[in-house]
This record gives sequence, C-alpha cells and structure tokens, in this order.
Amino acid sequence: MSEENRNRLRELRELSKQGGGEKRVKAQHDKGKLTARERIEILLDRGSFEEIDAFVKHRSHDFGLDKQHYFGDGVVTGSGRIDGRLVFVFSQDFTVFGGSLSEAHAEKICKVMDMAAKVGAPVIGLNDSGGARIQEGVVSLGGYADIFLRNTMVSGVIPQISAVLGPCAGGAVYSPAITDFIFMVEQTSYMFVTGPNVVKTVTHEDVSSEDLGGAMTHASKSGVAHFVHENEVKTLTELRRLIGFIPQNNMECPPRRISSDDPARSDEALDTIVPDNPNKPYDIKDIITHTVDDGDFMEVQEHYAPNIVVGFARYDGRAVGIVANQPAVLAGVLDIDASLKAARFVRFCDAFNIPLVVFEDVPGFLPGTDQEWRGIIKHGAKLLYAFAEATVPKITIITRKAYGGAYDVMNSKHIRGDFNFAWPSAEIAVMGPKGAVEIIFRKDISASRDPEKALDEKIAEYRDKFANPFIAAERGYIDDVFEPHDTRPRIIRALEILENKADTNTRRKHGNIPL
Ligand code: HXC
Repeated sequence: MSEENRNRLRELRELSKQGGGEKRVKAQHDKGKLTARERIEILLDRGSFEEIDAFVKHRSHDFGLDKQHYFGDGVVTGSGRIDGRLVFVFSQDFTVFGGSLSEAHAEKICKVMDMAAKVGAPVIGLNDSGGARIQEGVVSLGGYADIFLRNTMVSGVIPQISAVLGPCAGGAVYSPAITDFIFMVEQTSYMFVTGPNVVKTVTHEDVSSEDLGGAMTHASKSGVAHFVHENEVKTLTELRRLIGFIPQNNMECPPRRISSDDPARSDEALDTIVPDNPNKPYDIKDIITHTVDDGDFMEVQEHYAPNIVVGFARYDGRAVGIVANQPAVLAGVLDIDASLKAARFVRFCDAFNIPLVVFEDVPGFLPGTDQEWRGIIKHGAKLLYAFAEATVPKITIITRKAYGGAYDVMNSKHIRGDFNFAWPSAEIAVMGPKGAVEIIFRKDISASRDPEKALDEKIAEYRDKFANPFIAAERGYIDDVFEPHDTRPRIIRALEILENKADTNTRRKHGNIPL
C-alpha cells in the first residue's frame, strides 16, 4: 500500500467520524443528547463495532444538496456484540441533515436489516431524525416504505428493538411501531404523526411536544413505548439487559444464564402475601420477585395498564415471559388496555420461544358502557387468541380469583396450558360469590325474613362449594394445588419437563386475530 493511499483512507475515515461537524455535535450535547457513535459505544461490547457503509454519500442535487456531502449520510450502520452475542445496529446522526432519511440513508438501513435477517440476529435501531429528507422528496418516502416492508417481513423472525432518542415524526414513527419494543428518553425524545403546529391548525389544540408525544405520554397514555428512562445511558444499558432475555432469532431458544439462586429454594414469605380477606388488594410483583432468580424482573410497559403486569425474568437461568394480573390496581380486572398489552407480549414470547408463566388473580372483564362501546369484546378476544395460539411452554398459577371468561382467557388448561397450578386460596368460579348468589338466590333472599342474613348465608354456602381450587382439580383443569412457598421449585421443575415441548398449529396463510 502506498503512503498516499494509506493517508487518503485515514483522512476519509476521520472525516466520516466527524458527522456534521463540531458545532452541530456541541448543539447535540447541549440538548442532553449523545452522538450516533457515542450511543453505539455504550450499546455494544467495547471494541466490537464493525462499521459498514461509512463512505456512503447521498446522490441528490436539488436545493443545494450537491454542495453538502457528509460521509455516512446521517446514519452509522454495522454490527457488534452485546454480552458476546451478535446484533446489527443503525444509529441516526442528527448532526447530519438532522438525521433525516435520504434514499442512500434508507439503503444503508435496509442493508443491515437484510444482513441481520440472513444471519439470524437482532436489529437495533437508534432513531434520532427530522424524518424524510425534505430536499429529496419522494425517493425519501420510498426509502421509508422499503424499511417498513422489511420491518414487517422479519417480524417474528428476528427481534427488532427501537430506541427513540430524539424526534421521530410523520410516517417515520411507523418503523419503530412495527418493531417489538420501543425505548424512549424523558424530555429528549418524542414521537407523533403530526407535530404541535399541525395539531393547532387542524384541531385548535394547544399542546407541547412533550405532552403530545413525549416519553411519558407514550409510556402511560398511548402504550406505544415499552420502556422510558431518564437519560440515554440508562436507556442503552437497559436495552442491553433486554437483549439478554431474548434469543437471536425464531429458530433459537433464549440464552440460559448460570444462576446462583437455588432452584429448590422455598420461600415462606409467599405464604402471607395473599390476604385472608378476598377483597383486599396485594402487589403481584411481590409474588413475582420472590419466585424468580435473584428477584430480577424486567418489567415491560410498567406505566401502561398497570392492572396487568408483563415482563421478563429467569427461573434457574431459563428466561421466561411473565404475565400477571395485578390485584393492587383495579382489583386486577381485564380491560381493553390490559388485554392489548398482554396479548402483544404473549405473541412476542411465543414468536421467540420464550416460555410463559402466568400468575392469575382476576375478577373478570371490566363492565360498563365505556369498555363495551370501545370494543372490550374484540380487544379481550386478542388476549384469548394470543394465549390459545401460543405453543411455547405455558404455566399458570392461580393465586386467588379466576372468575368467569377471564378464567378461560388467562392460559387455562382448555386453551393448551401445560401446567395449571393453584394455591389453596384460589377461587375458580363463574363469578364472585356475591354476584352469583344475588342472581341464583334472588327470590329466596327477598322472600326471607332477614334478607341480609340470608344473603350472607348463601354467600358463605356458595364460597364453600365453588370458591376453591378443588372442583377444578377434580376435573383435571388444575394439575395440582400446592402451598405458596413451593412455587419457585414447582415452576422450575415444570419448565424442565417442558424443555423439549413440541406443539404446532394448523398450517394456514395466517390466522385472523380480531384486530
Ligand atoms: C432535511 C432537515 C430535516 C429534514 C431537520 N433538518 N429536519 N434536513 N430534511 N426533514 C436539518 C435542519 O435544516 C438543520 O440543518 C438540522 O437538520 C437541525 O435541524 P434544526 O431545525 O436546527 O433542529 P431542531 O431545532 O432541534 O429541530 C428538530 C426538528 C426540526 C423538530 C426535527 O428540524 C423539524 O421540524 N424538521 C422537519 C421535520 C419534518 O417535518 N419532517 C418531515 C416529516 S414527514 P442545519 O444545516 O441548520 O444544521 C415525514 C414523512 C415520512 O417524515 C413518511 C414515511 C412514510
């Protein structure tokens, strides 16, 4: 290699690392944001990044673009490792044309997505972009559609994770929306189909970017974001943690970790979490953290529909997806948002061979005009559908209430639950004792001399007969009833037994989940 060639390569490489220049990098930092390359450094194992397409430039001539060229064209792409495991990454560089998406920029993203699909590894998108490169027009829109198509084609084949670390506006939001998980950062990232100015013109609403499409808005109101953190470093660190629970692709199982938490550990604290009074709330997360390895639970969509809890954990080093009704919020009732949240999570786990562990304490579906008119029937059906079609190992533990349709929906035996367990405190019935008695004994009660006493007696009678796990156990709908302190070892043994489970669904183009 001649001196001249070497110097030229070094010079161009150096230029490609400068992004949009010092001033714009400073502006990025002043906003509390990192640069595209700094983010990659934090995301990936040290020194593992293999960049491609660093010398790509746009091919546009309009609106003065022929005079502005930056190597990389506003996105840094390549592959690297997270805890030694291969991932592909694209990281938009806001310092170059505001990270806007040109034809060449889109081609770079598509190239890493295609490679990730071929080798079977996750794709991580770090989004920070002003949207379509305005000077380029329709070729930029075409570039977005090329990405959307790939997002759809690899959905359920390789994991796709998005971090939104700056603006994400217009149709650009739809690529992250198709991916499996979205991370956002408080105060610096936002997603919306149209920004506050357009909203003002069309609907006359005055709303800030943060309120319209900031991290907390999407984490708590819309459910678009799955994780929200206070800064980028925490976000990228948590993204690494998430990758640790999921497999490389749909043909593999999640990585198994060596755990120092005793698989036979029984936990007496579990015996006192569920209150004696069936109407008293308790925190289902206490049960989760007492049973999983080292109490380590990565909750997904923590701020959305908190009446259901979903997330990842490990039992004896095996990753699982946990779905749990939360009696501490709305008594753990299933409503539209809870059904949507859990259904999507169940389908992710099923697509990627992650066993499901369900903790059930549910008084039923939420009644009322609001829910009915907004379609609790079709939305609740999504959760039913998701559990029914899932072929991964499926374990349910009924801790207290399993009432009505919700009993069927929450991974019951009838929809292919593999191990359905109950604690002695379980109440498996068509509805709560009071509601049941008021319907079936209405006449007897009103005819009695002391209706209040009669009601109490009938409730006690009904509870005694039906509000326990043994009628279901007699029929084999419940495989076993055990004391709460045994829960961890029982789940671990069930997962061991199910390790080589193989189950299939009927061959078809695709099912028709009630969207
Ligand atoms: C080209 C863009 C750009 C874009 C920003 N820039 N957005 N260049 N195309 N879409 C450039 C700016 O000219 C500026 O260049 C630099 O990026 C930084 O932008 P600023 O405005 O100075 O930054 P800031 O104040 O932080 O504001 C960021 C912003 C704003 C909110 C994103 O730039 C903005 O509103 N941009 C336009 C957003 C938009 O309407 N995009 C199209 C959406 S429609 P210099 O040289 O000064 O550094 C869409 C359709 C997709 O995306 C459809 C897919 C189906």
